[in-house]
Amino acid sequence: MSEIILAIESSCDETAAAILKNGTILSNIIATQSIHEKYGGVVPELASRAHQQNIIPVVEEALSAAKIAKNEINAVAYTKGPGLLGALLVGAQFAKSLAYAMEIPLIGVHHMHAHILAHFIEEPKPGFPFLCLTVSGGHTQIVLVRDYLDMEVIGQTKDDAVGEAFDKSAKMLELPYPGGPLIDKLAQKGNPMAYEFSKTDMPGYDYSFSGIKTSILYFLRDREKSEPGFVQNNKEDIAASVQRALVEMLMVKLRKAAKDLKIKNVAIAGGVSANSSLRSALLNEAEKRNWNVFIPAFEYCTDNAAMIAIAAKYKYEASIFEALDDSPNPRLPF
Ligand code: KG4
Ligand code: ZN
Repeated sequence: MSEIILAIESSCDETAAAILKNGTILSNIIATQSIHEKYGGVVPELASRAHQQNIIPVVEEALSAAKIAKNEINAVAYTKGPGLLGALLVGAQFAKSLAYAMEIPLIGVHHMHAHILAHFIEEPKPGFPFLCLTVSGGHTQIVLVRDYLDMEVIGQTKDDAVGEAFDKSAKMLELPYPGGPLIDKLAQKGNPMAYEFSKTDMPGYDYSFSGIKTSILYFLRDREKSEPGFVQNNKEDIAASVQRALVEMLMVKLRKAAKDLKIKNVAIAGGVSANSSLRSALLNEAEKRNWNVFIPAFEYCTDNAAMIAIAAKYKYEASIFEALDDSPNPRLPF
């Protein structure tokens, strides 16, 4: 019997839908909301409204691209959290209505579990146990993944997420939101050793990015004062130095966790795993320490519904379903 899952992701500013059939992604559609660019960050109310407008066309496109009819779907999945409440509600409500009307199971997926399970969309797939550095706009975690449905956060940020540190640094360089990818692009042409910023070390495998953010802010402010035009004239070197510092911070704890736990399978996930410097740092470790590294394809790094679909597959197979009176949780525990 075939297993067809429709998955919906609406936790932040992308409205996405995907169709998974017997473990294979048939379509993966994403509508990115450009409305937020002019505000320098995601405006929750505008995100919810845009999800409302996008959700039906995005789902229809996912179905038609997959050549699947609505009545062939065996289960419908949605992002249960964490995320923006109004945004989550749109996806959850849509999924619930469809599950109710079609009398099919409803599957609630944790957004961060899905980022990790995105590694099981394509080959090569990591073997268990593996460590996953999960880095996005809202999270920075080192996760010990024992099985598809058995994961534990062993380290995390105590304040800002690394994606936020990228985005806020970009803002200081007057780059539009989300600035992470733009820092990455500028950094390719800059000198990563040009400037040093002070990094905060935390106990164990935890992170803190608020100190370095302040250090970057003060550095830029002071240099701009003594040398007007400094920021504009040195954007590439600043971006490269910021990127090096942030990637170093990520790698120090990841290396420590891998060594302590004697784990050689190491993966990265989440929006920041699209970062070219983080990717090459990981490949470097693979060579130096014999790690088997797993880096998702670009389209599965940032928010998408294919990752919700694959995560839903493991819940479907274990018959873990959501009741129709479920409501999403913006702070859903890991
Ligand atoms: O996982 P994601 O798409 O959404 C959240 O769940 O947050 O991650 C978005 C984050 C943003 O902070 C964005 O700037 C960052 O990922 N990002 C990057 C790159 N691509 C996306 N940061 C650094 N370099 C990149 N190439
Ligand atoms: Zn995400």
